[in-house]
Amino acid sequence: MTLYRATVLDTSGDLLAPARLVAEEDCGLLVRDGVVAARTGFATARAAHPAEEVVDLRDGILLPGFVDTHAHFPQVRVIGGLGMPLLDWLRECALPEEARLADPAYAHAVARDFLDGLVRAGTTTALVFGSHFPLAVDALFTQAQAVGLRITAGLVVSDRILREELLTTPEEAVVHGRALIGRWHGRGRLRYAVTPRFSLSASEPMLEACAELLAAGDDIWFTSHLNESTAEIAEVRRLFPGARDYLDTYDRHGLVTSRSVFAHDVHPTPAELTVLGAARAGVAHCPSSNSALGSGLFPLSAHHDAGVRVGLGSDVGAGTGFSMLKEGLHAYFVQQLLGDGGALLTAADLLHLATRSGAQALGLADRVGDLGAGKEFDAVRVRPHPGSTLDVALRHAKDATDALAKIFTLGTPADIDAVWVAGRPVPGPAPAAPDHSLTPLGAP
Ligand code: GUN
Ligand code: ZN
Repeated sequence: MTLYRATVLDTSGDLLAPARLVAEEDCGLLVRDGVVAARTGFATARAAHPAEEVVDLRDGILLPGFVDTHAHFPQVRVIGGLGMPLLDWLRECALPEEARLADPAYAHAVARDFLDGLVRAGTTTALVFGSHFPLAVDALFTQAQAVGLRITAGLVVSDRILREELLTTPEEAVVHGRALIGRWHGRGRLRYAVTPRFSLSASEPMLEACAELLAAGDDIWFTSHLNESTAEIAEVRRLFPGARDYLDTYDRHGLVTSRSVFAHDVHPTPAELTVLGAARAGVAHCPSSNSALGSGLFPLSAHHDAGVRVGLGSDVGAGTGFSMLKEGLHAYFVQQLLGDGGALLTAADLLHLATRSGAQALGLADRVGDLGAGKEFDAVRVRPHPGSTLDVALRHAKDATDALAKIFTLGTPADIDAVWVAGRPVPGPAPAAPDHSLTPLGAP
C-alpha cells in the first residue's frame, strides 16, 4: 500500500445541482492495488498506517484524472486546421489524414502521438473515435493497454459520402466489429464502442449493422455525432426524409440508450432532448471545436433540464488540443456568451465537467471521476513552473475555489507534472532529441 499526502480537490454531487467542491488541504489517500482504500486527514491516515510508504505531493494540487468523452485518435496530427466549417474541414483536413491510417506503421505512430497527448494533458479516461481501418484500431487498443489508460473505442464505419478508401459495407462492418470486440472488449480497462461516423455517412443498413454489433456483448457502448452544424443537419434531413429529426436516424435503430454518447448536439430540438433525457444518454460537449468550426453555442441548461448526461470532449482534431482545463474554460465562455440563456458555471462545475460528469456519461462513475474511497487512483498533480503566471496566481488564491478557477483559467498541459492510472505513475514520454531535420515554416 502507498499513502499519498496531498492537497486534494475533487467534486461530489451532480453538475449544476450544484456540483460541490471537496477540498482537503492535508489529505491522506491510502492506495491499495490501484484503488483508494481510505481517504482521511493525513495525520489520521499516518496514525493508522505508521509503516506504509508515504509519497508527499503537497507541492502542487492533486485532482482526479480528466475524462475526455470525445476525441478522434487519427486526427492528432491535423489539430489547428482553422478557418473552415464542419463539412469543408472534414473534406479538406480530417479525412485525407484519416485515409493515411490504412498504413499500419503510420497508424501505430499516430496512436502513440495521440495517447502521449492524452497523458501529457492529464486525461486518464477517454471515449475515443477510432479509425476506419481495423489494424489502426488494434494499434490504439494495444498501446492504450500498455499505458494503462481507460479507453472506450471502436472501428469507425461509413458506407457513403466519404472518400472511397474510408467506406465499408454493413456486412464487413459486422465482421470486423465482432473480431475487434472479441480481441479487446472488457480486456483490462478497455471497452468497445460501436461507432458510425455520423448518420450522414451511414445508410439504414449500416445503422442496422451497428444495432447488431451493439447487441453482440455486455456493456458495449455506442458513439456518433449529432446536431453539430446547421449545414450537416440540413443534409441529414434530406437523406432521411422519413426521420422525425437527426436523433431519430439513430433512435429508429435502437441506438439511443444509456450506453450512447453523442458528440456536439449544439442544435437540438426539444423533442430530441426529451428522447435523450428519457434514455439517460450522454452528450459530449466540445466547446473549443464548436468555436473553431463556428458550429454554435451549446445549450447546456436545456440538456441539464432534460436530464441528459453531459461530459466534456476535446474533439481532437477539430478541437484545439487535449487539455480538459482549456475545454472547461471554453465551456464557461460559451455559457457566458449565451447571456440569460446560459448556465453560470462555477469552478466546481468546471472540475465536475472535466472529471465526474464525464465518468457519469461513460457509466464509470463508480470507478473514476473523483478520489473518494473505493475509486481507482487515477490522478494528476498540477504543479506550475515556479514564477509562471499560474504559480503566482495560485500563491495568491483566496481559497480552494479561487485556486481551482485559476487552474482552469491559466492551466495548460505544461502544468501537469505527474499522472497516475490505477495507482501507477504513467511515465512521461522520453524527452525528444532535438530534431534538426524539422523545417520550420516549410523552409527547404
Ligand atoms: N462529424 C463527422 N465526423 C466528424 C469529425 O471527425 N469531427 C467532427 N467535429 N465532426 C464530425
Ligand atoms: Zn468528433
